[in-house]
Amino acid sequence: MKIDSIQNFYSNQQPRKTQHRKQAVTFSSLKLKNDENNFSDTCFYRDITTLRAAEKLLRYNFPNGTIIMDFAGSNGEEAISLYSLLNDKSHNKYKIYSYDKSAKAVSLGQKGIYTVFSSNANDYFLLPDSKYTKLLKDKNGQVNELRERFLEMMEPVARPVYEINDRNYLYRLLASPDFHVRYFKLKDKYKDKIKIEEGDIHNIRNLLPDKKAGAILFRNAFYIETGNYGINEFSLLEDLSVNKKKIIENIVDKVYDKLLPGGLFILGDIEKDHIYIADNSVKDKDKYFIRNFGVAICKEPLLWSALEKDGRFEPVFYKKVASPCALREDMKVPTIWRKK
Ligand SMILES: C[S@@+](CC[C@H](N)C(=O)[O-])C[C@H]1O[C@@H](n2cnc3c(N)ncnc32)[C@H](O)[C@@H]1O
Repeated sequence: MKIDSIQNFYSNQQPRKTQHRKQAVTFSSLKLKNDENNFSDTCFYRDITTLRAAEKLLRYNFPNGTIIMDFAGSNGEEAISLYSLLNDKSHNKYKIYSYDKSAKAVSLGQKGIYTVFSSNANDYFLLPDSKYTKLLKDKNGQVNELRERFLEMMEPVARPVYEINDRNYLYRLLASPDFHVRYFKLKDKYKDKIKIEEGDIHNIRNLLPDKKAGAILFRNAFYIETGNYGINEFSLLEDLSVNKKKIIENIVDKVYDKLLPGGLFILGDIEKDHIYIADNSVKDKDKYFIRNFGVAICKEPLLWSALEKDGRFEPVFYKKVASPCALREDMKVPTIWRKK
């Protein structure tokens, strides 16, 4: 999508207060909202459409297996989800390193017990007994398959003695009569396939220094690195002195160096990872002012331009954007890029 059509898109939307909201459900499982940077929420099979596309491209580009580095992997739910799609039980050719800079998220992942709960979490469909599961529109007939893949890797366990989720979040859920929670652990036979370690994408050169990766993920985290808020949640807290372009280019350069030829860079589908509010370094002529939201966005799609620079990456998969104001069906963002 060109950035001028993005401008038209936002100009036609109403700010959050007045717009018609889509059906209430589903915030991602805000499981780690109380970690040190308050941003480590995740859930199993988040943006399954992109994960499925990544699985197919990985099998095609790297049929003999490869290393996958999942940055911003939180407690490892994303890595487990992707591995479960690649898992063919007998020939496990892929290995995923899940890195996160949050010590708390990583330590929970290393302890190895995970929660899935209903209601209102995006991965509630993994619980066959959930009332909401019965209401689920399984358009692609994939729910049973995903449950099977999940249970091939995970086994039910009792509640651990330590707390996994943000208690405030749980308290809110507990108010629902349909709330229930299940605990799962990664089966021992998969432990050497998913490594969960502390790691910052800025330090990628020093991680697995002798190796190159077939895929690198950094999903739903560019907005954290750049302090970029969603268009409709523009906040005075945003620090406009941060040079977003520089930060993005720096990460993209490092990712490019670490990928094998044909390697994939896999992004999140949330709006604020793709559409950037203009910081102070952006000249007036390079901004669009979106009247309806009272905010200026960069004309240049910073992340996409950084990826396309010198023809280094090409987009190979587009996904409908996950945005609270994405009421239009056709707003898509490129979530998978291939190193040329
Ligand atoms: C919203 S969570 C996203 C988790 C997962 N990727 C998902 O989409 O479900 C963002 C995570 O990014 C991590 N993060 C932010 N900047 C990072 C960086 N430079 N390197 C590694 N992790 C980072 C945060 O600690 C947090 O756990």
